[in-house]
Amino acid sequence: MAPRRGERERSVQPRTGGPPVALGMAFAMVDSGGVSVALPTRPVIGILHPGVMGAAVGSALKPVAGAVIWAAAGRSITTSKRAELADLVGVPDLAELARRSDLIISLCPPRAAVDVAEQVAAALDGRRQRPLYLDANTVGPATVREIGVLLGEGTVVDGVIVGPPAWEPGRTVLWLAGAGAPVVAGLFGGSPFEVRVVGAEVGAAALAAGP
Ligand SMILES: NC(=O)c1ccc[n+]([C@@H]2O[C@H](COP(=O)([O-])OP(=O)(O)OC[C@H]3O[C@@H](n4cnc5c(N)ncnc54)[C@H](OP(=O)(O)O)[C@@H]3O)[C@@H](O)[C@H]2O)c1
Repeated sequence: MAPRRGERERSVQPRTGGPPVALGMAFAMVDSGGVSVALPTRPVIGILHPGVMGAAVGSALKPVAGAVIWAAAGRSITTSKRAELADLVGVPDLAELARRSDLIISLCPPRAAVDVAEQVAAALDGRRQRPLYLDANTVGPATVREIGVLLGEGTVVDGVIVGPPAWEPGRTVLWLAGAGAPVVAGLFGGSPFEVRVVGAEVGAAALAAGP
């Protein structure tokens, strides 16, 4: 039987000169100055929230995820229907999503990005093992650095999406920066999102993607 995407042996070379990141093993590891960033082979991925972009990202990651989950509390019928159409798994609320996820992806109105990160930080308070957190909102470097301080810079990946929600390849680029950027980039291999990793420093993606 042919391997599913995400189960193949492959490696990603960070442009920052770090070690290659081997995927398709028990863990993908990046050593970033003492912080160990790891994802299981088939991570649980939480999407906050499945708007038009969140649904496309969640759908793109389903082949490599154990589950792609979303949090129902407070969301509209429109979001709920979008999540259902994208075949994402609903959990009751953000706190439950934060506890269950190996990777959390924030895609919400940009003005709410810090608020969402604060809610996640509160939900994770006291938890020793922290999920990776990709802020993929259209926010500036200062905002994503603030999110890095809230959640711990080693676990925050800075992302900026340029282009429409990607249901087919060739139109949308996801710029990534941060210690965990190569690990996150590996999840999008073969998906409609083209990924460019620009460095290990949170804030660099917003700068590289440009205005
Ligand atoms: N759409 C694009 O073409 C595009 C392109 C590049 C980048 N982006 C970026 O992607 C991110 C998401 O955009 P989108 O187009 O997917 O937006 P969207 O379709 O409006 O979806 C936003 C999602 O966030 C939820 N939400 C609304 N108010 C919120 C709040 N105060 N706190 C937390 N969540 C809230 C919405 O849920 P309810 O409505 O159910 O409340 C909805 O599920 C933004 O940062 C945007 O800049 C989008």
